Amino acid sequence: MTNDGKRRLTMADIIKNYINGKWKTGHGAGTFRSINPANKTNIVGLATRSSAADVDEAVDAAREAFKEWRLMPAPRRGEVLLRAAEILSRGKKSLGMLVTQEMGKILPEGLGDVQEAIDMAYYMGSEGRRLSGETVPSELPGKDAKSVRVPVGVFALITPWNFPVAIPAWKICPALVAGNTVIFKPSSDTPVCAARLVGMLEQAGVPKGVINLVHGAGKETGEYLATHPGIDAVSFTGSCDTGEHLEGLCGRTHKPISAEMGGKNAIIVMDDANLELAVEGAIWGGFGTSGQRCTAASRIVVHEAVYLKFIKMFKGAASKLRIGNGLKKGTDMGPVINESQFTKILEYIETGKNEGAGLILGGGPYTKNDCANGFFIEPTIFTDVDPEMRIAQEEIFGPVVCVIKSGSFEDSIRIVNDTRYGLSSSIYTQDVNKSALAERDLDSGIVYINASTIGAEIQLPFGGTKHTGLGPREAGGRGGALDTYTRWKVIYRDFSGRLQKAQIDR
Ligand code: UN1
Repeated sequence: MTNDGKRRLTMADIIKNYINGKWKTGHGAGTFRSINPANKTNIVGLATRSSAADVDEAVDAAREAFKEWRLMPAPRRGEVLLRAAEILSRGKKSLGMLVTQEMGKILPEGLGDVQEAIDMAYYMGSEGRRLSGETVPSELPGKDAKSVRVPVGVFALITPWNFPVAIPAWKICPALVAGNTVIFKPSSDTPVCAARLVGMLEQAGVPKGVINLVHGAGKETGEYLATHPGIDAVSFTGSCDTGEHLEGLCGRTHKPISAEMGGKNAIIVMDDANLELAVEGAIWGGFGTSGQRCTAASRIVVHEAVYLKFIKMFKGAASKLRIGNGLKKGTDMGPVINESQFTKILEYIETGKNEGAGLILGGGPYTKNDCANGFFIEPTIFTDVDPEMRIAQEEIFGPVVCVIKSGSFEDSIRIVNDTRYGLSSSIYTQDVNKSALAERDLDSGIVYINASTIGAEIQLPFGGTKHTGLGPREAGGRGGALDTYTRWKVIYRDFSGRLQKAQIDR
């Protein structure tokens, strides 16, 4: 890895695959660049591509390793994750800086990304001593009945670039503690973070073959991996188009898939809201991570009584945001990830203008200061947005926020629910009854009261309704990731010494 832009990259610099406990370059598939979105001339790493043979090798290694890993007592598997948590904690600063360099989010958020992985490693590491099932009475004498969680087998884990450490950890940690083995295919925008994370897991003592890393593009490597006959199940986080395509492929090949996809999350601002707090929440939710979170607040539904006041305050706060390289202290917002996202977001801004929404801030690339070489976009606000407009319905995944006027509480709830997604939503109100109604009626996996739409904690399930996702949720708690990474097995043991017939002997 080099970023001086001068020295030629050598084989030693290449970010390799990790297969069966060895770091290897792919079989003649070439390399691809990971570039710093804050400065395109800064190459963060050159990663190996994977051919079908590399994926085959990784799947074979994971199948072989599964035989032993599933038999290792879960508390011991958990200890490996607890050691990984310690290693991640010690490496937090440098890994956080790498996240900022490779993905673009500002350093406090880069550190937060790593912290989320640390939290997950501790949580799932401790799960090794729980993983509990049920023991229930049998209807027959001399017989007992219980359910236990068992691993599923070999998982394909396909992850996005927006949380290049946290989201892989969300998948790897529960998969491993439950006794599965995995092939991890990270986003081709963040291979260096992925390799660093896997290196830390190796250091923590994950045995060979239990975790395998293959780099490459989603279309080739990801799809080949997900449909591979040696893969038992798939966990995917990313765009709705890719996720739904994978769901189809998995359906046809009889593989369970857990998919976490888009959002078009909204904040409701009621007439009795603490407006200062609501504006802070809208800024953080809308422009944090340059709007590139599944949980980003891309719609703000504001009661007409405070509409103009809110817009004035929101525009004032957004225009003060400092844009630049996320490693620089005091920066509030970094670039977007790559050229194609940059172009797509700018196209959405054009769509918004053509649809007749009022552009009151931003609307184009940001090139001031040191930003001309990066994928920077101005914080952009549209007002008077009709809830039916494309910019109010489709996920933009950039620093673009739509403000929508609402006449009543009921209208606000209806507007928020009226999209194909349902990940996260929020309401700012001082009225306890309204907050309770919002809690009941907002159709999303996560609801915030007097807080923004981002910042879910790892000890509760993460995911949403409608086209946001399929399968059990991610993260901890009841209905969370352990339901993806384990299957239930039910065991009846008859120690009566005679044939007993359920439902018949009474
Ligand atoms: C994502 O954007 O895919 O709640 C994950 C949050 C973070 C996770 C976001 N804890 O915003």
